[in-house]
Amino acid sequence: MRYTVHDFEIAARAELDPVYADFIAGGARDEITVRANEAAFGRLQLLPRVLRGSAERELGISLFGHRASLPILISPTAFHKLVDPEGELATARAAAAAGVIMIVSMASTVAVGQVADAVRAAGDDVPRWFQLYIQPDLEITEALVRRATDAGCSALVVTVDSPVLGAGERNRRNGFHDLPPGLRCENLVDLRDGERGHVRQIAMSPELNWEHVDWLRGITSLPILLKGVLHPEDARLAVRHGVDGLLLSNHGGRQLDTVPATLELLPEILAAVEGRVPVVLDGGVRRGTDVVKALALGASAVGIGRPVMWALAEGGEKGVRRLLELLRDELDDTLALCGASGLADLTPDLVRVPTWGPV
Ligand code: FNR
Repeated sequence: MRYTVHDFEIAARAELDPVYADFIAGGARDEITVRANEAAFGRLQLLPRVLRGSAERELGISLFGHRASLPILISPTAFHKLVDPEGELATARAAAAAGVIMIVSMASTVAVGQVADAVRAAGDDVPRWFQLYIQPDLEITEALVRRATDAGCSALVVTVDSPVLGAGERNRRNGFHDLPPGLRCENLVDLRDGERGHVRQIAMSPELNWEHVDWLRGITSLPILLKGVLHPEDARLAVRHGVDGLLLSNHGGRQLDTVPATLELLPEILAAVEGRVPVVLDGGVRRGTDVVKALALGASAVGIGRPVMWALAEGGEKGVRRLLELLRDELDDTLALCGASGLADLTPDLVRVPTWGPV
């Protein structure tokens, strides 16, 4: 039995090909930001209230008019079939059973339409979102948006922190550049005649700009979230360009190394958007206490990336179910200990930065 996210990490490492384990755990360059994300949660303290709790705590959220049973989303991660034969199908079934929103990666190894069919067949229909890298070829981008829309995805998460591919030096050292034979980026297959779903078909373009966001706004009525905005000025621009939400993310430290931990940036980003759009945060969330800290500071929800890959590697669909269950229990327990009867009771006065001690 696994009792913590860390247990899943250790179990996955023991089971996985080290090349794939490195692909999941790794980040850009010196991995300073990878470590910073988790460390920031550790540095922030909780200051609980007492004698005001309730027997049951409300953990559900509503985003863009859709309900989810937890304020924890599955952030988009590529290539689930690398670690489990069912891949994204297993992840999606576990997410749906737990009532959790899954953001399907554009680089998934099961097509988004198939993911949706599998979840519907299981009788659980929870919102799914689709993560998109805007392609410089707008026809291709439009075709991807159509695939996601046809699959019933209810929001688009547009990743904007990847003008070039992140410098994952572990992958370079390990010679990991492509999917093994038999696996493909299924969302890319046949977007145009003869396209076969190679990873290299995904274009990372440094030439994208705000006009592309405007263009996307014009071709879809789905809510659009930008993932990877870190500068408050860009957060303001995002709101001005009609974006519906932000996923405050540094790609789990996999793009530009030495950027701040997302938790550290959260107050500045919230101040910049002035409550006009919801802000979801990902990066380093490993504990129920982490979820509470992000929400107390004002995040609408959090996302988890690596923990899902570890749980999937360790136990497939069951592993991801167990992961979500234990995070749910930790969250509920933390709320009780903070004297909160639900997420609405999480306010900034419940967290603080240490005021003395070693710097
Ligand atoms: C990612 N991430 C990511 N992001 C994205 O927009 N599209 C993608 O395809 C992927 N793929 C991907 C693969 C793997 C193996 C990892 C670990 C991450 C980034 C992801 O969405 C998220 O931002 C981070 O993983 C969050 O940090 P934690 O929870 O991993 O610390």
